[in-house]
Amino acid sequence: MLLDRHLDDDDLARELRADVRAGLTADPRWMPPKWFYDARGSELFEDITRLPEYYPTRTERALLETHAAAIARITEAKTLVELGSGSSEKTRLLLDALVARGTLGAFVPLDVSGSALAAAVESLTAAYPGLGIRGVVGDMTRHLRHLPEGDNRLVAFLGSTIGNLVPAERATFLSSLRSVLHEGEWLLLGADLVKDPAVLVPAYDDAAGVTAEFNRNVLHVINRELAADFDVAAFEHVAVWEPRHEWIEMRLRSSRDQVVHIGDLELDVPFAAGEEMRTEISAKFRRDGLTAELAAAGFTARHWWTDPNDWFGITLAQAG
Ligand code: SAH
Ligand code: AVI
Repeated sequence: MLLDRHLDDDDLARELRADVRAGLTADPRWMPPKWFYDARGSELFEDITRLPEYYPTRTERALLETHAAAIARITEAKTLVELGSGSSEKTRLLLDALVARGTLGAFVPLDVSGSALAAAVESLTAAYPGLGIRGVVGDMTRHLRHLPEGDNRLVAFLGSTIGNLVPAERATFLSSLRSVLHEGEWLLLGADLVKDPAVLVPAYDDAAGVTAEFNRNVLHVINRELAADFDVAAFEHVAVWEPRHEWIEMRLRSSRDQVVHIGDLELDVPFAAGEEMRTEISAKFRRDGLTAELAAAGFTARHWWTDPNDWFGITLAQAG
């Protein structure tokens, strides 16, 4: 199987140590969301995508079902790159359309989760024997320069994972992506849209508690990787809509006074009862704001597709 690793276990361990030291000694405490995605976290995310409350995946899939042929006709892409690719399930709709169009030669999924990527590459290689498929284990905020050279590339960034970056990170990320693309190349960006909190909040606080388990998974990761002793059951899942920022914030709330020891860092982290640690933001977008963010990074939004409820938008933007 073809997997290029730009992050090995040592790099990941070093980064996790730095993030835990910075985030758990800050006030308020926080952790970057990429640490959810060990093998278990990636599986939990896939479970989330099938929950009745979690509308983004099925809404985006329906949009791709309807518009993949147009995307293939407009872009005539030779290489499809996917960032934060996970299982690449919805991406099959793009692959099918680009293969039918006859332009596609290669598919390059990039993800920080080696386990999710390996499973996706194995199954896609069997399903698309004619394509050159090469997975890249890497961090999309740091390893874009390792993307394949080429012309007429289409970069897909689906699932609204862009919303897990804070605005300043988004601006830096989009500019770095623009800097590795040639003028005229394409970005297909999936973005979850601002809507009634009565729809948004349950999507991040489902009745079956899968999102709660996904959220707490970061504590299992820190326990395992850094010899920490988080009592995972003593942290409650919290999902709130922050109207000022137009994002959902996921937090973990300590249910009692406790001190967590991070063995590998020789660090003691006190939590007061009720104290919250931010684990993820999931920003929701408006078409104008997204078009402006893309323009600021050097992309021109050429096409916009949304569902009848205006819940999720797909933008096809062009570099330059
Ligand atoms: N694109 C898929 C998966 C979304 S889940 C979908 O739409 O369903 C988010 C994915 O992004 C996970 O697979 C996670 O491992 C990956 N990810 C999170 N932060 C990342 C980073 N900094 N660099 C690369 N991949 C990242
Ligand atoms: C991957 N990302 C776009 C998901 C989201 O909706 O922000 C991650 C997630 N967090 C909780 N549920 C799903």
